[in-house]
Amino acid sequence: MAEGRPPVRQGLRLGILLSGRGSNFLAIAQSIRAGRLPNVAIAVVISNVANAPGLTAAAELGLPTAVFVSKRRPRAEHDADVLACLRQHRADLVCLAGYMRLLSPEFIAAFPNRILNIHPSLLPAFPGLDAQQQAFDYGVQVAGCTVHFVDEHLDHGVIVLQRAIPVLETDDAHSLAERILAEEHIAYSEAIARVASGDYEICGRRFALTAAGESRHLKGHDFGRSASS
Ligand code: GRF
Repeated sequence: MAEGRPPVRQGLRLGILLSGRGSNFLAIAQSIRAGRLPNVAIAVVISNVANAPGLTAAAELGLPTAVFVSKRRPRAEHDADVLACLRQHRADLVCLAGYMRLLSPEFIAAFPNRILNIHPSLLPAFPGLDAQQQAFDYGVQVAGCTVHFVDEHLDHGVIVLQRAIPVLETDDAHSLAERILAEEHIAYSEAIARVASGDYEICGRRFALTAAGESRHLKGHDFGRSASS
């Protein structure tokens, strides 16, 4: 049994953290609205950047929003404010969606195996910034994205889901990043569905759906192909 498993029976309340355009957040919101994530709700959208477009989009959707500007603030102090806000909104699962800030150890310990991140590469290849450019420059022939739990190391926690695409001869780093982003929009909702089902075990680094999860088609399900992004 995974430590910190969210209380899925009562439904899952997401705390979304973002710093920028928020297209992954919008894809998740669209999946919820379309009924692809039953028993999942967005409790709050929090940004560390006051004018993040994703935050404006959240407010336009009528979702609770909060801003805690992180610039020039000690990490622990800033994270304590974010944590308090997540608790106030009773968030069970934190989803980093383009959140351009490392989390403090205290933050990670407060949500063990209950923080998801999406990274635009097939981890463990190309962690860190500009992953798509790194992958393109390296000459990989297969690229993709990874949704993983967050631990104390950068882009490192247990992998929940990956989606892969071929790198085309016609690709440049920009077109590759765009095609990876389309996969991200599917992957994040599918990963949340897996976690929300509660039908999984974490064994070492391995995330495994239980028999119930398999039979509920949580693996290989074509999740959100129609998600607008
Ligand atoms: C995505 O590429 C995501 O993988 C990375 O940051 C980007 C955020 O994009 N972590 P968006 O704000 O969700 O559009």
